[in-house]
This record gives sequence, C-alpha cells and structure tokens, in this order.
Amino acid sequence: MNRKGIILAGGSATRLYPLTNVISKHLLAVFDKPMIYYSITTLMLANVRDILLISSPRDIELFKNLLGDGGKWGIKLSYAIQPSPEGLAQALLIAKDFLDGSPSVLILGDNFFYGDGIQKKLLDASNREKGATIFGYRVNDPERYGIINMDNNGMVKELIEKPINPSSNLAITGIYFYDAEAPIYAHQITPSPRGELEITDLNKSYLDRNELYVERLGRGYAWLDLGTHESLLEANQFVQTIEHRQGRKIACPEEIAYRKKWITKESLKILAESMLKNSYGKYLLQIINEFEYEDI
Ligand code: G1P
Repeated sequence: MNRKGIILAGGSATRLYPLTNVISKHLLAVFDKPMIYYSITTLMLANVRDILLISSPRDIELFKNLLGDGGKWGIKLSYAIQPSPEGLAQALLIAKDFLDGSPSVLILGDNFFYGDGIQKKLLDASNREKGATIFGYRVNDPERYGIINMDNNGMVKELIEKPINPSSNLAITGIYFYDAEAPIYAHQITPSPRGELEITDLNKSYLDRNELYVERLGRGYAWLDLGTHESLLEANQFVQTIEHRQGRKIACPEEIAYRKKWITKESLKILAESMLKNSYGKYLLQIINEFEYEDI
C-alpha cells in the first residue's frame, strides 16, 4: 500500500516566545538534533517514504535548506505552505493534490514518540486500509489535548477537544492514520469556535461512520509534548539520558535509512564524513563499523 506522509510544522508557537520570534519551533533543538527529525523518523519507522512537509511562509525555506529533497535519507520530501494556522485538519486539504487518492498518515511536527515496539504499532496501523487509526496515551493534564472517552466494553464513546472538565485521562496523540477519504471528509468540516478546522472533528467523522480505531500507547512508551519551555527541556533531558546510557541515538534518520537498507554503506559513509568534527558524524561512522544486527 502506498501510504503517504504529511508533517504539519506550521503555527507561530507563541507559547515559546521569544525562542520562536524569528524561527520555527520545529527547528529548535531536542538535545542533539532539530525537533523536526523526530517526526520525520517516526514516519520512516512506519515505512513511509513519500512525505509532504507543511510549514508557514516564513519558515518553509529553512526546512528546504535543512532537509532538501530527502534523497540523502532514502526518502522523498516535498513542501507546501500553510498561509495561516487555521487548524490541523487543513493539512489534509493542503495535501490533497500530493496525496492524489492515497491513504495518509499525518504527524504533528512537535510530537515525540518513543518506545520499544513502536515500529510494530505504527506498521499495524499503517496496514489497516480502511478507516482511521488514532493513538491514545494517558496523561496527567488531559485538558490540554483532545481526549478519548471509552465505554465499559472498551469501545470509543466520544472524542472531545480540550475538555474543561475531562472525564478521561486518555489523550489523543499527534499521529493519525487515514484512508483515502480523509481530504473529502476534511472538506465537510466547519471551523470551531476558536476558528480552526479541528483534527478532532475529522476523527469524529470516522467515529460516526464506525471506522475509527484507537490504539493505546501504554506505560512503556513516551509521548512527549514539545510545545512549552518546560516540556521542551524535559524532552531534551529524556533524549540525553537514553542516548548517553545506551550509546544509541533516538531519531537518527541516517541510521534508520541505513538499517532499513534505503541507503548504502557508501552513502552513509559520505554523510558521516561530512560531519566528522562532531559526535553526530562519529556516531554514524560507528554504526558503519559495527556488524551487529540490530532492530530500530
Ligand atoms: C492538537 C489537537 C489535539 C491533540 C494535540 C496533540 O492540539 O487539536 O486533539 O491532542 O494536538 O499534540 P493543539 O496542538 O492544536 O493544541
């Protein structure tokens, strides 16, 4: 199945001012790499190689400079502009021509997913051809997110966007798998009171059709938010802790492309040698020189 990826990396990130006065939040550091690497690699783990990155008119050129056409990582990157942040579901409308009738996976550029087995979870969702799949994760502050209410049989009862008095702690994470119908359903949504085309309304249209699947990310997973100074610092520390302990990088696109055999050893070597003065380049070289089979 030819599922295409969409990364939404727009918005003005006012909560992070002055950090984001002149630059996209998605280009800020999460420890040793730009934030956008984390969403790109999440899609790579789901074997999605044809990706549209959507950002603001101000920032789009910076993404192009950083990432290019994706060829160096064995993927294909295209770019589109979201003129103003009018909601996450707008991404499906902007991506309509790019998708050209394909199923999709939309990921928010400020979402961080980590955990052993995440690849299988993503692939399972990706292999489901019909309907939509969303991922639920228990959080302490559900009022900040869209939430999922389940009935006693574990069936989804309702989805509520940013409830004032949440009746569940199960937040909807920022990765959504959709079948080919999503742009059509997105067209039917009207703006919410905050003036946005809500992704939760798109998901509700799948729920109403009995075509919404919910996967849970349990206690062994990390789903981190990167939208406030505190959560950004926590994510930096999380990545630093795991990488330091294991000697393995989280969200290293070069490594994933190599282990998936999307790029050759020679190509990885060229990438490594362009960065040999720093620990990132040295890490890539170390990967080449190890023969150990390892899952990602
Ligand atoms: C958006 C969605 C929300 C979801 C969250 C995940 O919130 O509207 O349902 O839980 O992303 O990051 P926003 O970023 O618009 O506050």
